[in-house]
Amino acid sequence: MLNTKNEINKNKQSMNYHFSSIASKYRSIRTLDLEPVLYIKNQMNGKTKINMADVGCGDGRYSKEFLKYFGDKCFMHCIDYNENMLKSLENYFTEQNITNFCTRQGDANRLPIDNDSLDYIFTFNAIHHFEVPKFLSESLRTLKDDGHLFIYTRLRNQNSRSIWGTQFPLFAEIETRLYEFDELKQYIQEADMEIHSTRVFGYHRTSSLSRLVTQAKNNHYSTLALYDKETFKESLVTFQQNIKDNFDDLEQIKWTDENILIEIRK
Ligand SMILES: C[S@@+](CC[C@H](N)C(=O)[O-])C[C@H]1O[C@@H](n2cnc3c(N)ncnc32)[C@H](O)[C@@H]1O
Repeated sequence: MLNTKNEINKNKQSMNYHFSSIASKYRSIRTLDLEPVLYIKNQMNGKTKINMADVGCGDGRYSKEFLKYFGDKCFMHCIDYNENMLKSLENYFTEQNITNFCTRQGDANRLPIDNDSLDYIFTFNAIHHFEVPKFLSESLRTLKDDGHLFIYTRLRNQNSRSIWGTQFPLFAEIETRLYEFDELKQYIQEADMEIHSTRVFGYHRTSSLSRLVTQAKNNHYSTLALYDKETFKESLVTFQQNIKDNFDDLEQIKWTDENILIEIRK
């Protein structure tokens, strides 16, 4: 038990270090998926005085989409473990004249939020960093009776079919933190919560090899920070060769990404 706890803390520390180092450039190296945001917004339409939280908000690229759209009708608690991410979010929102938010440095496993106070909780691309049972129990505690939790993530099988999973050596094998749907479903059932809907989003992506290499060198997915230096270097070379072998136009590399959105009711 002690070992497991130590292990979890060690992993948390090294991930926190990783997110600190990429916080100032995070928005520029990741791809923003607007479809799930639109889908959620449509469900929320008509509501007023919406109190919500974005947990594992990072530099706020998803929070911003909700705040801009709903304006004064909503208030967002932007919660993240990482201070640099929150600083980057604050600068970004100031530039964008967004004021209806607060930042809370805190842990998804122990949310800095009052009981029964939230209408919506979102978590984008972050659930695999949390201790899921603790996060669900905290969601249950902080959501109002008719509150909703939205989890947006890529599943392990979706990850292994992505361009990184198929072309970048060891990417799918090293990324053991992601979940399959059935694993998440079990956690949700055990937490006494109910899945209201699930939706898989498919994205036709196009990118250049140079953009992909820049993303990899910047560890745009935290998976890449799990490689040791030498293995990463060799893998990047093989990745570039794989892309050259498998795609004709290196300026217009095309593939499909998939992610899932799970809507959970209290
Ligand atoms: C992959 S990033 C996603 C950021 C943002 N949601 C997005 O999609 O742009 C994961 C974020 O979760 C945060 N995080 C990781 N573990 C956390 C925890 N236990 N509690 C709160 N935040 C956490 C990291 O600091 C990081 O900012």
